[in-house]
Amino acid sequence: MLTKKLQDALNEQINKEFFAEYFYLSMSAYLESIEMEGFANYFNVQAQEEHFHAMKMFNFVHDKGGRVILKALKEPKSEFTSVTNVIEESLKHERYVTKSINELMDVAIKENDHSVKSFLEWYVDEQVEEEATISRLLAKLKLINGEGFGVLTLDNQLGMRKYTPGT
Ligand code: FEO
Repeated sequence: MLTKKLQDALNEQINKEFFAEYFYLSMSAYLESIEMEGFANYFNVQAQEEHFHAMKMFNFVHDKGGRVILKALKEPKSEFTSVTNVIEESLKHERYVTKSINELMDVAIKENDHSVKSFLEWYVDEQVEEEATISRLLAKLKLINGEGFGVLTLDNQLGMRKYTPGT
């Protein structure tokens, strides 16, 4: 069983993961609108990963005999100023999610629930990777000043990214 406090905190995180899916889809839609199909594909795949993050937690709450309560999703921002702006926003968002996962882990520690702590380790590690990937992408964009032929080359590369279902 989950304590009420932990169940509420997990439900809040499920909402944040679904919101991340929605936010990345919104970024993908903006990128499509400026003909950056490769970057759009990158965020489409990212959105699928966020869906997986949400469902992994959704299923875990049930495995623990808890109750999932889905809340309304916020409206995601839909307008951005450039490709670089999208990447900056996504890095900012990943840092926010990392903070949120860390706070959730703090609750699990306080409630002394070892199974939740163990489950959350996966998310802690995943956040390191997510932040690193997006930081590298931002660094590359800054190297090419976020414009010109370099952006098209990057767009071509990102167009090849495919979603690999998680476990
Ligand atoms: Fe589910 Fe990108 O954090």
